[in-house]
Amino acid sequence: MASVKLTKVKKVYDNNVVAVHDFDLDIKDKEFIVFVGPSGCGKSTTLRMIAGLEDISDGTVEIDGEVVNDLQPKDRNIAMVFQNYALYPHMTVFDNIAFSLRLQKMPEDQIYEKVTAAAEVLGITDYLLRKPRALSGGQRQRVAIGRAMVRNSKVFLMDEPLSNLDAKLRNQMRAEIILLRQKLNTTFIYVTHDQTEAMTLGDRIVIMKDGYIQQVGTPAEVFEMPKNLFVAEFIGAPKMNVMRTELKKDLNGGYTVSPFGVKLAVDGGKSEALAAKHAPTGEVLLGVRPEHITLAKEGQPGAIPCTVEVNEMMGSELHLHVVTEDGTRLIVRVPTIDLEPDQRHGLQRDSRLYITFRGKVMHFFDPESQENLLN
Ligand SMILES: Nc1ncnc2c1ncn2[C@@H]1O[C@H](COP(=O)(O)OP(=O)(O)O)[C@@H](O)[C@H]1O
Ligand SMILES: [Mg+2]
Repeated sequence: MASVKLTKVKKVYDNNVVAVHDFDLDIKDKEFIVFVGPSGCGKSTTLRMIAGLEDISDGTVEIDGEVVNDLQPKDRNIAMVFQNYALYPHMTVFDNIAFSLRLQKMPEDQIYEKVTAAAEVLGITDYLLRKPRALSGGQRQRVAIGRAMVRNSKVFLMDEPLSNLDAKLRNQMRAEIILLRQKLNTTFIYVTHDQTEAMTLGDRIVIMKDGYIQQVGTPAEVFEMPKNLFVAEFIGAPKMNVMRTELKKDLNGGYTVSPFGVKLAVDGGKSEALAAKHAPTGEVLLGVRPEHITLAKEGQPGAIPCTVEVNEMMGSELHLHVVTEDGTRLIVRVPTIDLEPDQRHGLQRDSRLYITFRGKVMHFFDPESQENLLN
């Protein structure tokens, strides 16, 4: 059992940098929480305050209802895995994993049992007698995880554990962390700057910027209902297209937008949702994800003319970078399976095409506050 609760946690460094402001979060037992955000937003600082590696300037951190602000790291029952594995180079994998158990003076037969069990879970049994330098990056990372595993910690903290790995290995280790999580069945707090890692690993994601929490939610919640423009653009790749346009009301009371002079009905329930929030007409930031824009035919209502600038063939889909007549750049994701062979050729650089999108995929943000109008 391990719940973690942060209440109004604040960090001011000696140089008066406020790295974390009023951080409030309730982490449930066995939950996998991800802190995500750009470099410098305070993720590591928050994690290190939970671990006890950094003083808490204000507020409280509780583990299972006990305030741990003044507890030493070793008394918090927490295991931490860092980006730079920090293995002892002169020790074998076995001895690296056994290190903390030997410090605790655990009997050797129990150490053997624990280390081999962890190695089994992590698939590194064959490497137990090697030194770290004879391992790949992914294998070293597994040793670092093994070292944290054998300590029976209540909470597992990981700070960018995959950042030093190449892209392919990172994908593989991401899947392994999901499996590891199922086997360990403990509370995880995971830090990353990578939105894909956050989306695929987290039960809930905490999106941070400049030391402030922007939004806490499940991957589906933050993707479908981003609280503000920052979250909307941070989550999802390629990132959401944003257009400045005018939100208007039709005679029948429904909302419309006219990006690039093409009138589009805000349908699919979004008009009713805006009306329920009394969204004012006037200038608005309209967000549409690249996968929610479709190709249209000339003359079709709502067809927006544009020109292809770049065509990235990704295999299962094309990423089309297009420019509208007023010079706005948009990205459109087109599943290749939807295209006729001759259409693929028709979408090369400088070719003209039409795109469109429906009301239900539109996101609306206040141009001043950048908050979602449906909050
Ligand atoms: N030891 C330190 N002393 C002073 N400022 C620091 C220290 N560590 C981090 N910071 C500052 O605190 C902010 C948050 O840093 P950090 O928590 O490392 O961000 P992240 O992990 O999200 O990249 C940054 O502005 C960083 O420069
Ligand atoms: Mg960091």
